[in-house]
Amino acid sequence: MTQEVLIYSSSRELNNSAAGFIVDASKKAIAARGRFTIALAGGSTPKTTYQTLAQAPFARSIDWERTFVFMSDERCVLFDDERSNYGMAREALLSHIPIPDANLLPIPTGQGSPDQVAEQYAKILSDFFGTALTDAPPAFDLILLGLGDDGHTASLFPGYPTLQETERWVTASPPGTLPPPVDRVTFTFPLINAARAVLMLVAGENKAAPVRDVLGGGAAVQERPAAGVQPTGKLVWMLDTKAAGSVKAARL
Ligand code: 6PG
Repeated sequence: MTQEVLIYSSSRELNNSAAGFIVDASKKAIAARGRFTIALAGGSTPKTTYQTLAQAPFARSIDWERTFVFMSDERCVLFDDERSNYGMAREALLSHIPIPDANLLPIPTGQGSPDQVAEQYAKILSDFFGTALTDAPPAFDLILLGLGDDGHTASLFPGYPTLQETERWVTASPPGTLPPPVDRVTFTFPLINAARAVLMLVAGENKAAPVRDVLGGGAAVQERPAAGVQPTGKLVWMLDTKAAGSVKAARL
C-alpha cells in the first residue's frame, strides 16, 4: 500500500481536489480496463464532493457510460428516505449526470432483512465482477469513504464483530452509536482492502481526534476502525485543516 495525506485550507479546495482525483481515476481505469468501478460513501463530506463532481468541469470529464456506481455502505431504509446514502448520492450527483440506469448498482434495501440484503449485494458484486463469492474479493477501481467522529468508516463501528470479518465481502451491521439508529449493510475490510484505490474524505474539527489516532499511528482497529483501511493499492486521505489538526501532509 502507498499512502498519501493531503490537507486543504477550505472545503472548496478539498472538494475540487477530490473531484479531480475521481476524474483521473476514471480515465486511468477506462484506459486500462474499459470501465470504471466506483463505490460511493454516505456522509456530509462525501456529499459536498458529489455536488462538486456534478458540476463543470468535472461532470463532463467522466465517461459515464463506462462508469459503474456502487455504495460502500447503506442504511436499511428506502432510497427516498432522507437517511438513505444512495438517496443522498442520487440527489447530489447521480440525478445530474448522463449515467445509464443499468450502471447504478445500489445496495437493494427494502428486499429483506439486513443479512439478506448483504447477501444479495454480495451476489450482485459477484455477478458483476465475474468473481465467485468463495474467491478473493474483486478490486474496485476506487472506493470512497468518510470518517465518523468515533473513527468508524463505511458502517464499520468501534468494537463491533463486523471488524473481524475475513471472508464475507458485504455484511449487515447493527446500528452504530451515532444517530440515526438504523440497521446498516456495509462493505467489509476484505472488500475495501482489495481496492486499487481508496479515497478518505474528511472535514471538520470533530474529526481531528480520530484523524490523529489513525494517521498518528498506533490506533487499534477495534477502537478506530478506519485504521483497518489498508488497501492493496493506494490510500489517499483528503483532509481540511480542521480535521487535520496537528497531522502533517505526507506521502509514504
Ligand atoms: C454513513 C457513512 C459514514 C460516513 C461517516 C462520515 O452511512 O453514515 O457512510 O461512514 O461516511 O460517518 O460522515 P460525515 O462526513 O457526515 O461526518
